[in-house]
Order: sequence, then C-alpha cells, then structure tokens
Amino acid sequence: MTEKLKHVAIIMDGNGRWAKKQDKERTFGHFHGVEKVREIAITANDENIEVLTLYAFSTENWKRPIQEVDYLMQLPSMFFSKYLKELLEKNIRIESIGDLTPFPENTKRVLLNAIKDTSHNTGMVLVFAMNYGSRTEIVEAAKKYHLAMVSGKMTEELNETNFEQFLMTKDYPAVDLCIRTSGEQRLSNFLMWQLAYAELIYFRWIN
Ligand code: FPP
Repeated sequence: MTEKLKHVAIIMDGNGRWAKKQDKERTFGHFHGVEKVREIAITANDENIEVLTLYAFSTENWKRPIQEVDYLMQLPSMFFSKYLKELLEKNIRIESIGDLTPFPENTKRVLLNAIKDTSHNTGMVLVFAMNYGSRTEIVEAAKKYHLAMVSGKMTEELNETNFEQFLMTKDYPAVDLCIRTSGEQRLSNFLMWQLAYAELIYFRWIN
C-alpha cells in the first residue's frame, strides 16, 4: 500500500482469548483492550489518519454471558473518564455508528457526552461501532432510500454513489485498511460495503 491511509478500521477481538491464555478472566482482556484503544487512537492521529473506526460492540455481542455484556457496557465510561481530556487536547472528534437504543442509560450518556464535547474538534475522527451490524445498516439504507423516493425528496435512480449517502458512514472516506487483531479471517458483519476495496490484515498470534 503506497497511498496515504485515510480510513483505518479495526476488529478488536481476541481480548478474551488473550486473557484466558494467561489464566485470567475474559474481562481482563477487555480491560487491556481499553488501554489499546487509547494507544491506537493516539498513534493513528499522529500518523494523520483521517478516520479510525473501531468495532467496539457488535449486534452479535449481546449473546455473550450476561456478566461479560455488563462489563462491556462499562468500557465507554472507563475509557472516557480516563482519556477524554487527552482526546480533546489532541483535537480528536468522537463519533459512533450503530443503534445505541438498547444500551444502558449510563453507557449511552457517556458516549453521547464524549461526542458532544468533541464535536468542534477538527482532527482525526474516532468512530466507535456500537451495536453495529453491516447487514442491518445496508437494509436500513435501502429503507431510507425508498422513503426518500416515495416522499419525492429523491428523484435520481439508485446508484452506488447516492446509495452511500444513506449509510451511517456517509461522511467518511472508504476504508483503506482493515485490521483484525485475533487472526480470525472473517469480516463478521463489519463495514461490508465500505471494505469493498480495502486491504485486510489478520494478526496470527493466537493458536
Ligand atoms: C470481541 O472479541 C470483541 C469485543 C467484544 C470488543 C471489545 C472492545 C474493547 C476491548 C474496547 C472497547 C472500548 C470502548 C471505549 C468502547 P473478544 O475480545 O471478546 O475476544 P475473543 O475473540 O477472544 O472471544
């Protein structure tokens, strides 16, 4: 890859398996994952990446044991209470994709406050994909297009360019590089439209 990276996306999995390998609880892995989010965000910002999208909670993650889901719900508050100040200083803007509706009030509030507090920042956009699933996003985009057509707001025939305007990622460039940290070689319903031309890197550190 020789051109400048504009948009990097990361499937941040393997935390649980990393912890288990050290005879620790899976939540220990998620705790360390939060520290990694800070490290990756600062590095990506220093590298002048425009958008960094992190798969922080998938629609499938609700099926995890309740104790683990409860722990995952606390990660935004752990992260922003520690690092919001630094993100503000670094001019990083926080945004999210996915449906926040089912999250506990506190999880939502912390994330929405961070989005509001950083909304005037002009540097890298750090996007948290939360309760996000690519198929749902595409179906919702098709529904929005249909509504826009029926209401007369949209008169143009559907094409790739105008369809993108109905996706949650409409304001971001296409993904150039996607990294999956556990080594699994799957997309797991992550940004399937946006990854059409992306380079994929899978780490192979878990046996
Ligand atoms: C799934 O794989 C990955 C997750 C559930 C995402 C974990 C997210 C973080 C650690 C950071 C989130 C940060 C914020 C600020 C919201 P897994 O890691 O459970 O592990 P496995 O593949 O070994 O099962």
